[in-house]
Amino acid sequence: MKIEVKNLVHEYIPGQRALDGVNLTIEGTEPLAIIGQNGAGKTTLVKHFDAILRPTSGTVVINGRDLSELTCAQWAAQVGYVFQNPDNQLFLETVRKEFEFGPRQVGMDEARIEKRLKHVAELVGLADKLDVNPADLSPAEKKFCAIGSVVMMDCDVVIFDEPTCGQDLEGNARLERIIAALRDAGKLCITISHDVKFVTRCFPRAVVMCQGKVLVQGPVEEVFSQVDLLKQSFVVPPPICRVALGAGMSQAVFSVDDLVERVRKERNNCE
Ligand SMILES: Nc1ncnc2c1ncn2[C@@H]1O[C@H](COP(=O)(O)OP(=O)(O)OP(=O)(O)O)[C@@H](O)[C@H]1O
Ligand SMILES: [Mg+2]
Repeated sequence: MKIEVKNLVHEYIPGQRALDGVNLTIEGTEPLAIIGQNGAGKTTLVKHFDAILRPTSGTVVINGRDLSELTCAQWAAQVGYVFQNPDNQLFLETVRKEFEFGPRQVGMDEARIEKRLKHVAELVGLADKLDVNPADLSPAEKKFCAIGSVVMMDCDVVIFDEPTCGQDLEGNARLERIIAALRDAGKLCITISHDVKFVTRCFPRAVVMCQGKVLVQGPVEEVFSQVDLLKQSFVVPPPICRVALGAGMSQAVFSVDDLVERVRKERNNCE
């Protein structure tokens, strides 16, 4: 999998750049987090991967094919986007119908839809809610319904926009399982999140956006080590990471165990 974004500019209002020349290459299928302050352009960027938005200028090329040459429907089979607000996505009378809708639109056969329905309903924790109207689900369940309906499509790229918003601990654990399952199935999962602890737990790499541009990208340990740069985007590393960096360590750590291990190593090096 390769997504190449070149000089991408998007203006919702002429002259006002929501994306101000984004250059970014995403290769492979390791889960990727996109972080950054409100209004940085995260949602605008990923909506170009699914051709929901078209560039004002610049290009998005996925696996060698320029998105501008293809229709939204053609990309829907390859890239799935879960909206930040599930109410913008869900529109059918039951969870089951939501799950079946997308696969039918892209011509998936009925036997495969039935098989995936069982698997995905279990994965997102809605196996006993298939006949419930999505409008009657809790806000957290609605998010999982929106996630399930996109995972059902079996796309190569799955994008989650703020899935952690409004989730409790169990919801976050379920999200972690979904992201791991997608990774294990060889899918590229791109997730926008403000929850830096969640990001450092689930994602080996991250892109930080600031004012319509990519500020920094790379392995999470490297990204979160760049404290001064991150300040520009108002991204605050997780507390344990700040403790480690404040104590003079050169690279970020994300758990107490890692911190203890690093202290031991550095002490051994000094002795
Ligand atoms: N439909 C729209 N019409 C006009 N301007 C928009 C629209 N959607 C977003 N914008 C503007 O584009 C910029 C980028 O917004 P975007 O939603 O991509 O940011 P974001 O990083 O996803 O923010 P958040 O964390 O709040 O979701 C912001 O200045 C926003 O106000
Ligand atoms: Mg957004």
